[in-house]
Amino acid sequence: MTAQAYRAELLSVPADPAQGGTIRHYADGLMVVEDGIVVAFGDHADLVPRFPGVPVERLPGLVVPGFVDTHIHYPQTDSIAAYGGQLLEWLERHIFPAEAAFADRAHADEVAGYFLGELLRNGTTSALVFATVHAQSVDALFEAALARNMRIVSGKVLMDLGPETLHDSVETGRADSEALIARWRGRGRLGYAVTPRFALTSSDTQLAGAGDLVAAHPDVLMHTHLAENMGEIAAVANRFATARDYLDVYDRFGLVGPRSVFAHCVHLEDRALARMSEAGSSIAFCPTSNLFLGSGLFDLAAADRHGVKVGIGTDVGAGTSFSLLATLGEAYKIGQLRGTTLDPFRALYLATAGGAHALGLADRIGGLQPGQEADFVLLDPAATPLLTRRTTSAGLAEKLFALQILGDDRAIARTYIAGRCAWMRR
Ligand code: GUN
Ligand code: ZN
Repeated sequence: MTAQAYRAELLSVPADPAQGGTIRHYADGLMVVEDGIVVAFGDHADLVPRFPGVPVERLPGLVVPGFVDTHIHYPQTDSIAAYGGQLLEWLERHIFPAEAAFADRAHADEVAGYFLGELLRNGTTSALVFATVHAQSVDALFEAALARNMRIVSGKVLMDLGPETLHDSVETGRADSEALIARWRGRGRLGYAVTPRFALTSSDTQLAGAGDLVAAHPDVLMHTHLAENMGEIAAVANRFATARDYLDVYDRFGLVGPRSVFAHCVHLEDRALARMSEAGSSIAFCPTSNLFLGSGLFDLAAADRHGVKVGIGTDVGAGTSFSLLATLGEAYKIGQLRGTTLDPFRALYLATAGGAHALGLADRIGGLQPGQEADFVLLDPAATPLLTRRTTSAGLAEKLFALQILGDDRAIARTYIAGRCAWMRR
């Protein structure tokens, strides 16, 4: 048994403050980690007598749980900041050609390694990740994540109606997904998500098959896009004329349930939100992506009214940053345009335990409670001259808010995976 203690300012928001969840803050805190698991998280003076002989390392900065990115595309790493076009045009012009290159396993390996390094550099310790239609793109990501002991959930993209250079078939999509689930089940901290790209790129038969896969495997998630862009929504309404709305398309194929994560949900009516709440499905709110593609302003207050679980997604490459801190800054601005002010502690919840709840992982990650995996980040409120100036005499809420508005990868001093320092700023 190897125990290690960290003395630092500690902050965790394990339950939603909007629903009365308490904020755990210790100005002089102690976190004790044993074999990658948190065994104590609290006040230094209270806890230290309980751990005689355990080495204590002082960490200068603010320790928070590792960030959970609930929606990101690793094959779009090199497509970030691609100029022009809203969703459907952007996909055709930039994304489908870039994803076609993942037929080459060596390319997938190289991008997967860079991608995971970028997550760590940004304090992201867990993510729900789109791969490409190629099964080996999932192998590349999972091998790289296994080597880093990261909690990554991903899946082969189902898209039998995709373009000539980027599609599967009902049969290969099904067989590849089954084989990947069997190959990767129970390995490291990995999880599988059945991943139909969106309604427009799968046939009815493939969508039904995706529903069958989810039903057959109680340990897998379902991950797709929903109601992101008006042109997309019009095309869905046109093809599925008898569906009540976009969500209902997925519902008819058994894809709306407690393990379903829907990215975007920018344009949803009350009926769909009520149905998501009833089903226990989750939303990945992707602010930088929604702004970059001009998709619209997500209505967090409406999701809250219906009690739908929400996490934060960067959605790189439509998203413009790997940083969940920077993404929370944009979430705040969308709230301002919507007339709802996102509290900084709630924002931290959404990017940590909220994301963990969305991915069905709240028993393991997100809050640094004793028994959870010790994925955590050391934030540096003095990362830049301006942050230093703004936070020197700030209280906790002000400091946290400044980190969200002014911070990004520069504010991540260290990232720990299961108690091991996996990345350190030089
Ligand atoms: N909808 C279908 N595919 C995609 C994608 O790759 N990115 C985004 N933002 N939306 C999508
Ligand atoms: Zn996406």
